[in-house]
Amino acid sequence: MSSDTKIACVMVGLPARGKTYIAQKVCRYLQWLSVSTKVFNVGNYRRKLHGAHQMHSFFDPNNKEGEIARREAAAEALKDMLRWFEVENGTVAIFDATNSTRERRTFILNHCKKQNIQVIFIETVCQDENLILQNIMDVKLSSPDYKDMDPEKAAEDFRARISHYEEAYETITENDFTYIKLINVGSQVVINLIQGYLQSRIVYYLMNLHIMPRSIFFSRHGESIFNLLGKIGGDSDLSPRGRKYANALPKLIHENLGNQPLTVWTSTMRRTIQTSEQLPYPKLQWKALDELDAGVCDGMTYEEIEERYPEDYANRDEDKFNYRYRGGESYRDVVLRLEPVIMELERQQNILIVGHQAILRCIYAYFHNLPHDELPYIKIPLHTVIKLTPKAYGCAEVRYRVEIDAVDTHRPKPQPKPPKPVINGNSISSSNLTNVAS
Ligand code: SIN
Repeated sequence: MSSDTKIACVMVGLPARGKTYIAQKVCRYLQWLSVSTKVFNVGNYRRKLHGAHQMHSFFDPNNKEGEIARREAAAEALKDMLRWFEVENGTVAIFDATNSTRERRTFILNHCKKQNIQVIFIETVCQDENLILQNIMDVKLSSPDYKDMDPEKAAEDFRARISHYEEAYETITENDFTYIKLINVGSQVVINLIQGYLQSRIVYYLMNLHIMPRSIFFSRHGESIFNLLGKIGGDSDLSPRGRKYANALPKLIHENLGNQPLTVWTSTMRRTIQTSEQLPYPKLQWKALDELDAGVCDGMTYEEIEERYPEDYANRDEDKFNYRYRGGESYRDVVLRLEPVIMELERQQNILIVGHQAILRCIYAYFHNLPHDELPYIKIPLHTVIKLTPKAYGCAEVRYRVEIDAVDTHRPKPQPKPPKPVINGNSISSSNLTNVAS
């Protein structure tokens, strides 16, 4: 990918076809991979410019005033998007709106071309009435457009809004456009003129998405011998308490899932394999799930690292996401090696990952859209199962603590040191503070 690649993903589709869901997911995925990405939602601009409570007639293509107001909102969002590329040097923008006419798509494309921005149209087509209804119920009725409105009246109004869009809707047939068409949530995918690395990543990601209900479970391995000794890394066995946890895990998972199918993923390290031994489900070992490689510090305690490599120790506290152990990895490196795992997780149904602290932090941050500076401090305690259930936007979470004691391996973020007081441009050390005060 050349560093000056700029891509606008322009959503296309009738209301309630999952455009915003897809826009948010693509944004989260790319941000997680450190690609500067932002969503521009035209509905938000429309609400800001023209108020939230617009009834369906506002969206009637024969309503001239409404049409001018909607065009104004789209133009405003487009202006901000182009400015973001220019001023903030953004890489991928997602223009989230219906963009359901040829005229609107050509308008956007022409503006982007002038700034050398590549455009991918992402059209979502859905003929499944049940899914559309589900989307209206789950998402649209809680939108600010229908705040404090009777849900039945809101649903009726929203259906009328959809009918107005249907009158003017033109599916993409522009053969010279770059596009991906997702039909009935990925049961059929049509792609046209996709080019380059980043466009291909986006398309591949979109091809793997599904909306079947499922859960993703995370568990760290049971307490290990190295955990007990306060050492990082290594490939040690479980401690006796860790083995107890491994024995308790199958019951907890079964109580949660019943007879639903599940696949267990582990790393290739002894402690995750031993933790999953009793689980009566298909298992898969991933090298990509191995713990962050601590390089020359592998097998040391934090105290030993501080003593042997004081500068490294301080640098890690300064910027833990980017700090790379000598001869080892950083959290940023781990995110990149986990990308295929995320892709596969998106494709799969119920999965239990029995993993390691740093690895689960990275995957958890993806699902909860947490920023990189918070990621290395996420609490993933031992002997705890975390259940994530993907929802319309984001994930619901439940944590199950198994009552078997384990050491606490979490190191909180160090508090920034207070700045030294400065007098006449000279900083004062604490040893001469009393002199100054007196
Ligand atoms: C909206 O106003 O909610 C979206 C406008 C559009 O995409 O047509």
